[in-house]
Amino acid sequence: MKRLRLGVNIDHVATLREARKTIEPDPVTAAMLAEQGGADQITFHLRVDRRHIQNRDVRLISEMAQTLVNQEMAATAEMQEIALAMHPDSVTLVPEKREELTTEGGLNLLGGGEKYNEVVKALKEGGIKTAAFIDPDLSQIKAAAKIGFDAIEIHTGEYANAGPGDKSEMLGILSVAAKTAVKYGLHVHAGHGLTYHNVQPVALIPEIEELNIGHSIVSRAVFVGIERAVREMVELMKR
Ligand code: PXP
Repeated sequence: MKRLRLGVNIDHVATLREARKTIEPDPVTAAMLAEQGGADQITFHLRVDRRHIQNRDVRLISEMAQTLVNQEMAATAEMQEIALAMHPDSVTLVPEKREELTTEGGLNLLGGGEKYNEVVKALKEGGIKTAAFIDPDLSQIKAAAKIGFDAIEIHTGEYANAGPGDKSEMLGILSVAAKTAVKYGLHVHAGHGLTYHNVQPVALIPEIEELNIGHSIVSRAVFVGIERAVREMVELMKR
């Protein structure tokens, strides 16, 4: 079985920096230490409103990272241009709303397919792998395959938020989605709301190749340091 990759999302290190509009804590330093802790990938979301990650962070991480780099972004012309210039290993397209606290749901690929077709084509021509962040919904998975994405990232938020009585049903939905995606020739990633307490059942779904985790790791890093926080998550994810 392939080893499960951990993408560490460093956005919230930048959130703390931007709370004071200062130079610390630096998400680039966080990325380097996350790599020391065993991260397989550095993930960040360059938002249109630049509320946390800035262009400078993207530039430095793309120069310095020793592991994979995954840029989450909205499907806009500006973001496409930045990705083609910075050349991350992969781009995960996500929905973006100005008023939201964090990414709230998956993309709707059934409406606006044209927009996604163009961005995916341009990124692929630029040698960048593409993933669609979608809910575990069979029609969205089919649409992702049709558009030509290389992978889907399954939104695990509902699983994470489910109470103890509903967790196994939500896990079943994630598992069916992962199997369906593989049937359609897609690689499978997952993320959102995963923590030290709920990650293991998701890590055991064999079709999932990559988890992207941010808030929980950065929160733990405040107390134990990011290198150790990442190492502990890597240990939990071993299947
Ligand atoms: N994957 C995607 C596509 C996301 O948008 C986010 C949040 O930025 C994450 C993973 C990480 O979510 P969390 O911070 O809840 O671990």
